[in-house]
Amino acid sequence: MGIFSQKNHLNEHMLPDVIPGHVAIIMDGNGRWAKRRGLPRTAGHSKGVKTFEDVVEMCFNAGVKTVTVYAFSTENWKRPDSEVKYILNLLNEYLDICIEKCLKKGIRMRIIGDRSVFPPEIAEKMNDSEQKTAHLNYNLNVAVNYGSRAEICTAVNALISEGKNEISETDISSKLYTTPVGDPDLIIRTGGELRLSNFLMWQAAYSEFYFTDTLWPDFGKKDLYKAFSKFAKTHRRFGGL
Ligand code: IPE
Ligand code: IPE
Ligand code: MG
Repeated sequence: MGIFSQKNHLNEHMLPDVIPGHVAIIMDGNGRWAKRRGLPRTAGHSKGVKTFEDVVEMCFNAGVKTVTVYAFSTENWKRPDSEVKYILNLLNEYLDICIEKCLKKGIRMRIIGDRSVFPPEIAEKMNDSEQKTAHLNYNLNVAVNYGSRAEICTAVNALISEGKNEISETDISSKLYTTPVGDPDLIIRTGGELRLSNFLMWQAAYSEFYFTDTLWPDFGKKDLYKAFSKFAKTHRRFGGL
């Protein structure tokens, strides 16, 4: 029984027996969702935040322990200034309310990515949300200014500055943003593209993938449970038999 089950009346019968412990989501398709409705791309991002909140809740309700979402990549700075500003403003607004929500629901927040580029007040809110929820059991990682290549370079540089001159897989795995929560069991990408777009490349070595054409703002319980069902039927061999 999940922590939100009373509130949401989830139909648990649709859930498979095996639920991934760590689900990562590439929340793609906001812009196209808006365009199809004759709306500005930004309207898709606003709707996307609502979907994010609902889907995170559904995941924890279903028994998932860790959710990692891709909110803004190191490459997304290439977008028009107005769109970047809009997305970062949504992030800022979310940071204002997330501590209270996370405390209520038992969720430990982590922001993953290079936060050094953000204004001090945003960076402070990020730190605050992490510190104030650090005792809680469900993990929510929000990837902001995140890029897998940058993450791996940062890890290697940290190891070099510690004096290492030979680096092992375990060393790199120990210096990633996701080190405390481990690798994702299932990676979901909405929006129809079949690529990682610089998301969790190291961590995805043995993840299962679920790609759907559904655009992120339209992604709902049915889609999520479909992804879980496919995951439950997969035989994960990790190179063995
Ligand atoms: C994903 O939706 C959100 C971010 C990358 C911030 P997009 O904005 O990429 O939407 P599409 O892919 O252009 O439809
Ligand atoms: C990936 O989506 C990044 C996020 C969802 C935050 P993009 O829309 O940026 O990816 P590409 O450009 O299609 O590869
Ligand atoms: Mg996109």
